[in-house]
Amino acid sequence: MTDVMIIGGGSGMGFALARLLVAEGADVTLVGRSADRLDRARDALGREADLSGQQAKVRSVPADIGREADVAELFAGAERVEHVVVTAADATGVYGRSGDIAVDTARAVLDTKLLGAWLVGRYAAGVVTGSITFTSGINAYRPNGANTIMAAANGGLASLASGLAIELAPVRVNVVSPGWVDTPIWDDLGMDKDAAFAEMARRLPARRIGSADDIARALLSVMRNPFTTAAVLHVDGGHRLV
Ligand SMILES: NC(=O)c1ccc[n+]([C@@H]2O[C@H](COP(=O)([O-])OP(=O)(O)OC[C@H]3O[C@@H](n4cnc5c(N)ncnc54)[C@H](OP(=O)(O)O)[C@@H]3O)[C@@H](O)[C@H]2O)c1
Repeated sequence: MTDVMIIGGGSGMGFALARLLVAEGADVTLVGRSADRLDRARDALGREADLSGQQAKVRSVPADIGREADVAELFAGAERVEHVVVTAADATGVYGRSGDIAVDTARAVLDTKLLGAWLVGRYAAGVVTGSITFTSGINAYRPNGANTIMAAANGGLASLASGLAIELAPVRVNVVSPGWVDTPIWDDLGMDKDAAFAEMARRLPARRIGSADDIARALLSVMRNPFTTAAVLHVDGGHRLV
Protein backbone atom coordinates (compact mmCIF):
# COMPACT_ATOMS: atom_id res chain seq x y z
CA MET A 1 0.00 0.00 0.00
CA THR A 2 1.26 3.49 -0.75
CA ASP A 3 -0.37 6.76 0.19
CA VAL A 4 0.80 8.67 -2.87
CA MET A 5 2.44 7.50 -6.10
CA ILE A 6 4.22 10.38 -7.87
CA ILE A 7 5.07 9.67 -11.50
CA GLY A 8 7.79 12.22 -12.17
CA GLY A 9 8.65 12.42 -8.47
CA GLY A 10 12.43 12.25 -8.94
CA SER A 11 12.77 16.01 -9.51
CA GLY A 12 11.04 19.37 -9.77
CA MET A 13 7.40 19.70 -8.73
CA GLY A 14 6.95 15.98 -8.09
CA PHE A 15 9.95 15.89 -5.77
CA ALA A 16 8.72 19.02 -3.95
CA LEU A 17 5.37 17.28 -3.39
CA ALA A 18 7.17 14.19 -2.08
CA ARG A 19 9.05 16.37 0.43
CA LEU A 20 5.81 17.86 1.78
CA LEU A 21 4.28 14.39 2.11
CA VAL A 22 7.32 12.84 3.76
CA ALA A 23 7.37 15.69 6.29
CA GLU A 24 3.86 14.54 7.30
CA GLY A 25 4.88 10.88 7.55
CA ALA A 26 3.09 9.71 4.37
CA ASP A 27 4.28 6.69 2.38
CA VAL A 28 5.40 7.80 -1.06
CA THR A 29 6.35 5.93 -4.23
CA LEU A 30 8.52 7.84 -6.70
CA VAL A 31 8.37 6.85 -10.37
CA GLY A 32 10.53 8.00 -13.29
CA ARG A 33 12.76 6.60 -16.01
CA SER A 34 16.18 7.13 -14.44
CA ALA A 35 16.89 4.70 -11.59
CA ASP A 36 19.87 6.86 -10.50
CA ARG A 37 17.76 10.01 -10.24
CA LEU A 38 15.08 8.13 -8.30
CA ASP A 39 17.63 6.61 -5.92
CA ARG A 40 19.14 10.02 -5.19
CA ALA A 41 15.68 11.49 -4.56
CA ARG A 42 14.65 8.54 -2.38
CA ASP A 43 17.85 8.76 -0.31
CA ALA A 44 17.46 12.53 0.17
CA LEU A 45 13.86 12.08 1.33
CA GLY A 46 14.86 9.21 3.60
CA ARG A 47 17.46 11.44 5.29
CA GLU A 48 14.86 14.21 5.75
CA ALA A 49 12.38 11.74 7.27
CA ASP A 50 15.05 10.47 9.68
CA LEU A 51 16.00 14.02 10.71
CA SER A 52 12.37 14.96 11.40
CA GLY A 53 11.70 11.67 13.22
CA GLN A 54 8.96 10.69 10.72
CA GLN A 55 8.12 7.07 9.90
CA ALA A 56 7.52 7.84 6.21
CA LYS A 57 8.40 5.07 3.77
CA VAL A 58 9.82 6.14 0.41
CA ARG A 59 10.05 3.64 -2.46
CA SER A 60 11.21 4.18 -5.99
CA VAL A 61 10.14 2.28 -9.10
CA PRO A 62 11.75 2.94 -12.49
CA ALA A 63 9.08 3.09 -15.22
CA ASP A 64 8.36 5.04 -18.40
CA ILE A 65 4.82 6.45 -18.45
CA GLY A 66 4.85 6.29 -22.26
CA ARG A 67 5.24 2.48 -22.24
CA GLU A 68 2.06 0.49 -21.69
CA ALA A 69 3.90 -2.52 -20.22
CA ASP A 70 5.60 -0.27 -17.60
CA VAL A 71 2.36 1.40 -16.52
CA ALA A 72 0.50 -1.95 -16.39
CA GLU A 73 3.26 -3.43 -14.21
CA LEU A 74 3.38 -0.38 -11.97
CA PHE A 75 -0.24 -0.80 -10.93
CA ALA A 76 -0.34 -4.61 -11.09
CA GLY A 77 2.43 -4.58 -8.47
CA ALA A 78 0.68 -2.06 -6.22
CA GLU A 79 -1.67 -3.51 -3.64
CA ARG A 80 -3.43 -0.21 -2.97
CA VAL A 81 -2.67 3.39 -3.88
CA GLU A 82 -4.60 6.25 -2.32
CA HIS A 83 -3.54 9.04 -4.66
CA VAL A 84 -1.63 9.21 -7.96
CA VAL A 85 0.01 12.43 -9.10
CA VAL A 86 1.57 12.68 -12.56
CA THR A 87 4.20 15.34 -13.22
CA ALA A 88 6.20 13.38 -15.82
CA ALA A 89 7.21 15.22 -18.97
CA ASP A 90 10.27 15.41 -21.17
CA ALA A 91 10.39 18.70 -23.05
CA THR A 92 13.60 17.94 -24.97
CA GLY A 93 13.31 19.18 -28.54
CA VAL A 94 9.62 20.12 -28.38
CA TYR A 95 9.94 23.91 -28.57
CA GLY A 96 10.09 25.65 -31.94
CA ARG A 97 7.79 26.20 -34.90
CA SER A 98 5.86 23.08 -35.95
CA GLY A 99 7.79 22.86 -39.24
CA ASP A 100 11.03 22.53 -37.28
CA ILE A 101 9.85 19.82 -34.87
CA ALA A 102 10.51 16.18 -35.77
CA VAL A 103 7.33 14.09 -35.99
CA ASP A 104 8.92 11.51 -33.66
CA THR A 105 9.46 14.25 -31.07
CA ALA A 106 5.82 15.33 -31.33
CA ARG A 107 4.70 11.70 -30.96
CA ALA A 108 6.91 11.26 -27.92
CA VAL A 109 5.30 14.28 -26.23
CA LEU A 110 1.80 12.97 -26.92
CA ASP A 111 2.84 9.45 -25.85
CA THR A 112 4.14 10.59 -22.49
CA LYS A 113 2.03 13.61 -21.51
CA LEU A 114 -1.38 12.65 -22.90
CA LEU A 115 -1.46 8.93 -23.75
CA GLY A 116 0.71 8.22 -20.69
CA ALA A 117 -1.86 9.99 -18.50
CA TRP A 118 -4.61 7.92 -20.14
CA LEU A 119 -2.61 4.73 -19.46
CA VAL A 120 -2.44 5.76 -15.81
CA GLY A 121 -6.22 6.15 -15.71
CA ARG A 122 -6.67 2.81 -17.48
CA TYR A 123 -4.39 0.76 -15.23
CA ALA A 124 -4.98 2.63 -11.96
CA ALA A 125 -8.70 1.79 -12.18
CA GLY A 126 -9.56 -0.54 -9.33
CA VAL A 127 -6.25 0.15 -7.57
CA VAL A 128 -6.37 3.88 -6.79
CA THR A 129 -8.90 4.77 -4.11
CA GLY A 130 -8.74 8.56 -3.73
CA SER A 131 -7.62 10.71 -6.66
CA ILE A 132 -5.50 11.12 -9.77
CA THR A 133 -3.99 14.53 -10.54
CA PHE A 134 -2.32 15.39 -13.84
CA THR A 135 -0.01 18.36 -14.51
CA SER A 136 -0.65 20.40 -17.64
CA GLY A 137 0.79 23.88 -18.24
CA ILE A 138 0.27 27.50 -19.21
CA ASN A 139 1.12 26.91 -22.89
CA ALA A 140 -2.28 25.20 -23.29
CA TYR A 141 -3.90 28.56 -22.49
CA ARG A 142 -1.25 30.98 -23.85
CA PRO A 143 0.33 29.24 -26.87
CA ASN A 144 3.14 31.36 -28.34
CA GLY A 145 3.76 29.86 -31.78
CA ALA A 146 6.74 27.84 -30.57
CA ASN A 147 5.09 25.34 -28.25
CA THR A 148 2.13 24.03 -30.28
CA ILE A 149 2.44 20.28 -29.69
CA MET A 150 3.11 20.67 -25.96
CA ALA A 151 0.15 23.08 -25.75
CA ALA A 152 -2.06 20.47 -27.47
CA ALA A 153 -0.94 17.71 -25.08
CA ASN A 154 -1.48 19.95 -22.06
CA GLY A 155 -4.86 21.16 -23.30
CA GLY A 156 -5.99 17.57 -23.87
CA LEU A 157 -5.37 16.74 -20.22
CA ALA A 158 -8.40 18.82 -19.14
CA SER A 159 -10.73 16.72 -21.32
CA LEU A 160 -8.99 13.52 -20.31
CA ALA A 161 -9.46 14.33 -16.62
CA SER A 162 -13.16 15.06 -17.17
CA GLY A 163 -13.69 11.76 -18.99
CA LEU A 164 -11.82 9.78 -16.35
CA ALA A 165 -13.65 11.60 -13.53
CA ILE A 166 -16.86 10.08 -14.91
CA GLU A 167 -15.37 6.65 -15.63
CA LEU A 168 -13.52 6.22 -12.35
CA ALA A 169 -15.98 7.94 -9.97
CA PRO A 170 -15.91 8.22 -7.03
CA VAL A 171 -12.14 8.43 -7.60
CA ARG A 172 -11.54 12.12 -8.35
CA VAL A 173 -9.49 13.18 -11.38
CA ASN A 174 -8.10 16.70 -11.73
CA VAL A 175 -5.45 18.83 -13.40
CA VAL A 176 -3.06 21.44 -12.01
CA SER A 177 -1.82 23.87 -14.65
CA PRO A 178 1.42 25.60 -13.68
CA GLY A 179 2.83 28.76 -15.17
CA TRP A 180 6.60 29.24 -15.43
CA VAL A 181 8.27 27.43 -12.57
CA ASP A 182 12.00 27.20 -11.80
CA THR A 183 12.72 23.45 -12.07
CA PRO A 184 15.30 21.23 -13.85
CA ILE A 185 13.04 20.96 -16.94
CA TRP A 186 14.43 24.35 -18.07
CA ASP A 187 18.06 23.22 -17.92
CA ASP A 188 18.17 21.47 -21.30
CA LEU A 189 16.23 24.04 -23.32
CA GLY A 190 19.38 25.91 -24.41
CA MET A 191 18.14 29.36 -23.44
CA ASP A 192 19.22 32.15 -21.08
CA LYS A 193 16.91 31.03 -18.29
CA ASP A 194 17.77 33.86 -15.88
CA ALA A 195 17.02 36.58 -18.47
CA ALA A 196 13.78 34.87 -19.57
CA PHE A 197 12.65 34.46 -15.96
CA ALA A 198 13.43 38.09 -15.11
CA GLU A 199 11.44 39.36 -18.10
CA MET A 200 8.49 37.06 -17.33
CA ALA A 201 8.51 38.01 -13.65
CA ARG A 202 8.15 41.69 -14.65
CA ARG A 203 5.07 40.84 -16.78
CA LEU A 204 3.25 38.60 -14.36
CA PRO A 205 0.70 40.01 -11.89
CA ALA A 206 2.43 37.91 -9.19
CA ARG A 207 5.74 39.65 -10.17
CA ARG A 208 7.73 36.47 -9.77
CA ILE A 209 8.36 33.05 -11.28
CA GLY A 210 6.82 30.06 -9.51
CA SER A 211 8.71 27.65 -7.29
CA ALA A 212 8.32 23.86 -7.27
CA ASP A 213 6.90 24.26 -3.78
CA ASP A 214 4.11 26.58 -5.05
CA ILE A 215 2.92 23.80 -7.36
CA ALA A 216 3.43 21.05 -4.80
CA ARG A 217 1.05 22.88 -2.42
CA ALA A 218 -1.56 23.16 -5.20
CA LEU A 219 -1.22 19.45 -6.04
CA LEU A 220 -1.69 18.62 -2.38
CA SER A 221 -4.81 20.73 -2.02
CA VAL A 222 -6.46 19.32 -5.20
CA MET A 223 -5.56 15.79 -4.15
CA ARG A 224 -7.07 16.21 -0.72
CA ASN A 225 -10.24 18.24 -1.36
CA PRO A 226 -13.01 15.61 -1.44
CA PHE A 227 -15.36 17.79 -3.52
CA THR A 228 -12.88 18.66 -6.28
CA THR A 229 -13.10 16.55 -9.41
CA ALA A 230 -12.87 17.25 -13.17
CA ALA A 231 -11.25 20.58 -12.24
CA VAL A 232 -8.29 22.50 -13.67
CA LEU A 233 -6.50 24.58 -11.04
CA HIS A 234 -4.36 27.32 -12.59
CA VAL A 235 -1.29 28.17 -10.54
CA ASP A 236 0.47 30.53 -12.91
CA GLY A 237 1.01 33.87 -11.19
CA GLY A 238 -1.74 35.36 -13.39
CA HIS A 239 0.00 34.40 -16.65
CA ARG A 240 -3.33 33.83 -18.46
CA LEU A 241 -4.07 37.55 -18.08
CA VAL A 242 -0.93 38.94 -19.71
N1 LIG B 1 8.66 24.01 -15.00
C1 LIG B 1 7.78 24.75 -15.67
O1 LIG B 1 7.98 25.95 -15.93
C2 LIG B 1 6.49 24.11 -16.15
C3 LIG B 1 5.51 24.96 -16.67
C4 LIG B 1 4.29 24.40 -17.07
C5 LIG B 1 4.09 23.03 -16.97
N2 LIG B 1 5.10 22.24 -16.49
C6 LIG B 1 4.81 20.81 -16.37
O2 LIG B 1 5.02 20.43 -15.02
C7 LIG B 1 5.37 19.04 -14.97
C8 LIG B 1 6.53 18.83 -14.03
O3 LIG B 1 7.69 19.40 -14.60
P1 LIG B 1 8.93 19.90 -13.74
O4 LIG B 1 9.09 21.33 -14.08
O5 LIG B 1 8.81 19.48 -12.33
O6 LIG B 1 10.12 19.13 -14.53
P2 LIG B 1 11.21 18.06 -14.11
O7 LIG B 1 11.96 18.46 -12.90
O8 LIG B 1 11.99 17.81 -15.37
O9 LIG B 1 10.35 16.76 -13.74
C9 LIG B 1 9.83 15.90 -14.67
C10 LIG B 1 10.07 14.48 -14.15
O10 LIG B 1 9.39 13.58 -15.03
C11 LIG B 1 10.19 12.43 -15.21
N3 LIG B 1 9.86 11.91 -16.53
C12 LIG B 1 10.09 12.47 -17.74
N4 LIG B 1 9.65 11.68 -18.72
C13 LIG B 1 9.13 10.57 -18.11
C14 LIG B 1 8.53 9.39 -18.59
N5 LIG B 1 8.40 9.16 -19.90
N6 LIG B 1 8.10 8.47 -17.68
C15 LIG B 1 8.25 8.67 -16.35
N7 LIG B 1 8.82 9.79 -15.84
C16 LIG B 1 9.25 10.72 -16.71
C17 LIG B 1 11.63 12.94 -15.14
O11 LIG B 1 12.52 11.93 -14.67
P3 LIG B 1 13.28 10.94 -15.72
O12 LIG B 1 13.90 11.84 -16.75
O13 LIG B 1 14.26 10.20 -14.86
O14 LIG B 1 12.23 10.06 -16.28
C18 LIG B 1 11.53 14.06 -14.11
O15 LIG B 1 11.83 13.58 -12.81
C19 LIG B 1 5.59 18.62 -16.42
O16 LIG B 1 4.45 17.93 -16.86
C20 LIG B 1 5.75 19.93 -17.17
O17 LIG B 1 5.34 19.82 -18.52
C21 LIG B 1 6.29 22.73 -16.08
